[in-house]
Amino acid sequence: MDQFMNSNMSAIVAVCDDWGIGHEGKLLVKNSDDMKSFVSHTTGHTVVMGRKTYETLPKHAPLKNRRNIIMTRDDSFEAEGFEVAHSVDEVLSMTEADDEVWVMGGGKIYELLLPYCKRLVVTKHDNIMPADTFFPNIDMDASWKAIDVTPGGTLENDVNYEFVTYERTDYNLRTCCIYTSKHHQNTLKVLKHIQRIYPSLELIDAATIEKGGRNLDLSEYDLVGFASGIYYSQFDKRIRTIASNALTDNKKVFLVFTSGGDNKWNSHEMNDICRMKHASLIGTFGCLGYDTFGPFKLVGGVQKGCPTEADLARAVDFAGTIFSTCADVLQFEKEQKERIAQRRREEGPKKLNSFQKMFLHKRLKK
Ligand SMILES: NC(=O)c1ccc[n+]([C@@H]2O[C@H](COP(=O)([O-])OP(=O)(O)OC[C@H]3O[C@@H](n4cnc5c(N)ncnc54)[C@H](OP(=O)(O)O)[C@@H]3O)[C@@H](O)[C@H]2O)c1
Ligand SMILES: Cc1cc2nc3c(=O)[nH]c(=O)nc-3n(C[C@H](O)[C@H](O)[C@H](O)COP(=O)(O)O)c2cc1C
Repeated sequence: MDQFMNSNMSAIVAVCDDWGIGHEGKLLVKNSDDMKSFVSHTTGHTVVMGRKTYETLPKHAPLKNRRNIIMTRDDSFEAEGFEVAHSVDEVLSMTEADDEVWVMGGGKIYELLLPYCKRLVVTKHDNIMPADTFFPNIDMDASWKAIDVTPGGTLENDVNYEFVTYERTDYNLRTCCIYTSKHHQNTLKVLKHIQRIYPSLELIDAATIEKGGRNLDLSEYDLVGFASGIYYSQFDKRIRTIASNALTDNKKVFLVFTSGGDNKWNSHEMNDICRMKHASLIGTFGCLGYDTFGPFKLVGGVQKGCPTEADLARAVDFAGTIFSTCADVLQFEKEQKERIAQRRREEGPKKLNSFQKMFLHKRLKK
């Protein structure tokens, strides 16, 4: 079992009805209450902004009483009072020890860091303005839920606004993922990113499981993942053996793999195992992983930089989708069981037909 850090990252944003957030480098709505909310949430903490949003700050000055970080790809970029990060990984490692990190935009930076946020504070304006930059519509995303709505007020131009706080939906699922990641830990990197957002995901190194999983009891888990690098076109043998031995009927399963090449058959053996064990495969995530196997070593490896930032963000999205699907399926199954039990109660004891009566009579006579 392996425990990693929880997320300390939140995003704060002001949106219009269509989730527009900016136009030609400017904010869409002037709202002093929104500014006050921004200051009260972020003061004393770390703020992360894109280089373009930095350009909009008055006199390019850092925000007071906050650690200011700018994201840019420009290696020579410097700004007094600001720290600079050149990638998502760099931001995450720079802020790992901070108590609270606030992503403050703009559009590109929200998009990059949203998968790592556990909370969103949104000022919602009840209007629509011409916009060229948008925030994703969180109300359409089951992995977020509104936990607080505080009324705001009405601006001079009659625009109403409110403050809505969202948190990642807690699906309350017991989930584990059994993994092998022996080449470059590419697969483990994907899993750790998922776990950063969903810390309840338990990671179990397959090497710690004895007897090929014959004694492994997965009944306490609602959802079980199997993850592996692809070695000789398949999931690691250890993972396949554990899945064959430990899976039971109707167990909800997901698969994660990284591979040196793009091959849609990478998970076909695991699919077959799930089918044979009557497990219910909810989803599969695959992406490329840095590969120095065999001749590739001679050229310094292939798929350098993989999994990429975009792959890791996709993996977190994938996790949100399978958790939500699994929670829905479990809820449906529970309701169905209750409906059947209720019908049985209403119908009362079942009447026997003549054949059943004869059969019972013979059994009783014996
Ligand atoms: N409504 C709100 O709450 C709110 C909040 C903030 C901003 N905004 C609005 O949003 C708009 C600006 O958003 P935007 O999307 O155009 O720009 P942005 O997100 O502020 O900044 C984009 C810049 O971030 C850097 N960047 C992008 N990907 C990166 C990566 N993977 N690693 C390192 N750096 C990376 C690049 O800088 P380089 O080009 O230097 O490489 C890129 O040009 C403006 O209209 C602003 O007013 C609205
Ligand atoms: C022994 C070995 C065999 C491999 N075989 C394949 C293969 O058949 N197909 C493929 O796409 N990648 C193959 N790879 C590359 C790995 O799948 C890729 O690097 C993966 O990201 C490794 O994951 P890991 O770092 O989690 O172990 C192989 C790597 C090794 C070490």
